Formats: sequence, structure tokens, C-alpha cells
Amino acid sequence: MTDASLVVTNLRVEFSGFVAVSGVSFDAHPGEVRFLIGPNGAGKTTCIDAITGLVRATGSARLGEKELLGQQVHRIVRLGVGRTFQTASVFEELTVLQNLDIAAGRHRTPASLLRARRGTDASIEQALEETGLTGELATPAGILSHGQKQWLEIAMLLVQDAKVLLLDEPVAGMSHDERAATGDLVQRIAAKRIVLVVEHDMDFMRRFATRVTVLHQGKVLSQGTVAEVQADPQVQEVYLGTADAIAVGTPNRTEV
Ligand SMILES: Nc1ncnc2c1ncn2[C@@H]1O[C@H](COP(=O)(O)OP(=O)(O)O)[C@@H](O)[C@H]1O
Ligand SMILES: [Mg+2]
Repeated sequence: MTDASLVVTNLRVEFSGFVAVSGVSFDAHPGEVRFLIGPNGAGKTTCIDAITGLVRATGSARLGEKELLGQQVHRIVRLGVGRTFQTASVFEELTVLQNLDIAAGRHRTPASLLRARRGTDASIEQALEETGLTGELATPAGILSHGQKQWLEIAMLLVQDAKVLLLDEPVAGMSHDERAATGDLVQRIAAKRIVLVVEHDMDFMRRFATRVTVLHQGKVLSQGTVAEVQADPQVQEVYLGTADAIAVGTPNRTEV
């Protein structure tokens, strides 16, 4: 549970002269499902990389009173900021439970390690339940479905008690049912945490976002509710001629 908000102000990232993120500002609060969308190359992943300390950035990214920029990666993790990657990064040869044990490592006392060998501890059980993976406890992560691997990554952040979850294209490559399940999961976990979903799938965004920031060429193009962003002519223009054009251009289209 967190009361703090994530406030990003004037974020800027430069890669040897190329400005990938330029003056980006947005905030995310517990209880909302915050989306960051934009075409490929817009700078979405770079924003997450900057917030988590993987690339150098200027500006500010504050979690409550704490400035994240300039801190080392492990410090940012310890402050409660977790992220997933576009390609799931679980330990494929280990079981679901073993993956969660590793994620829970920093909280483990010898006594709870013993308990974990006999059964599972409460935080792991809860994460398994929340992500629908209870039945897969003994399954090697490598043979999970694509969707289940993403959920395991999220479960690993939950056992770490992450206050901020930055999810990079969590539904890419998922089936229709997996997308719906992921949307429900994201809504559940966002109730008590800060959740920022990076996505270029407009349909998923329209179903689950509370507020949206649209990035284009490293800059904020538009920001607001789903309805506001969809009605923004600038957003429609950027997505025009792409596969998403119809979804953006017809805000009243019936949901599937
Ligand atoms: N390490 C890097 N070095 C140089 N350019 C990069 C690097 N990472 C990303 N970029 C460039 O920055 C831009 C934004 O990339 P990215 O944040 O991955 O976009 P998105 O996630 O929105 O698709 C792209 O033009 C990309 O090629
Ligand atoms: Mg990306």
C-alpha cells in the first residue's frame, strides 16, 4: 500500500546527440491505471529505463519525497519501484515457486526459508492467487504460456512488495483471453499501488486506462482521460495510417 505518487517532470534522455525523451512530464497515483502510449520509437521504454536508473536522464522523477533520478538501480528497487520488460525475463529452468522465492529473497529470514520448503509463505501465496498462477506452482517457468510468464513477472514484483509497477507492453503477443485477464489483474493490483502501463495497443488502453499520456517522438502529444485523448485531433493525426487509426478515429465504436 502506498499513498505516494510518482511525479515525472521535464524528463529528458539523450543518446549520443539523439534526444529520445524531451521534456516529458506526467504523474501516476495509486488507485488509477495509468497508461503511457505512443507509436514505436516514441520513447516509452526509455521513460521506464530512466525512472528505473538504467539510462541517465535529467529532469525529475519523484516517488513521494524521494528523487529517483541519479540513484543506483538497486536503490530504486529498494525504494519500491519495479518494472517488467517487453520480453519476459523469468528464470526459465526454475519453477514458478522458485522464481517467486528468489524475488522474495530480501525479505527472507532463515525461519521463513524453512517454511517455504514445506509450503509457501503468505506473500507468495497471495501473489500466486492474484496472478492466477496457484495451479502452476511446480511448473518450470520455461513451459508457461506467454501470458503466464508475464503474470509471473508481475507476481515477482508483488512478492517484492513493489509500490510502483512499470509494465512495458504487458499484453504484447497475448491471446484475447490473456489480454482480458491481464487487464483485470492490472486493475486489481492498481487499487493499492501505482501502476503505469506502457502500451501501443489502443484497444487494451481504451478498456482499462483511467488516464493516458500519449508520447510522440519523445514528447508529450496529449494527456487526459481515454475520451479526451481519443478526441484529440493531434492524436488522431499521429495514429492515422497505422493499424490503430480506426480505433482512435471512432471513439464511439462498441467495445468487443
Ligand atoms: N540505448 C539506445 N541508444 C540509442 N538510441 C536508443 C537507445 N534506446 C532507445 N533508443 C532510441 O530512442 C527512441 C525511443 O526508443 P524507445 O523508448 O524504445 O521507444 P518505444 O518504447 O516508445 O517504442 C528510438 O528512436 C530508439 O531507437
Ligand atoms: Mg518500447
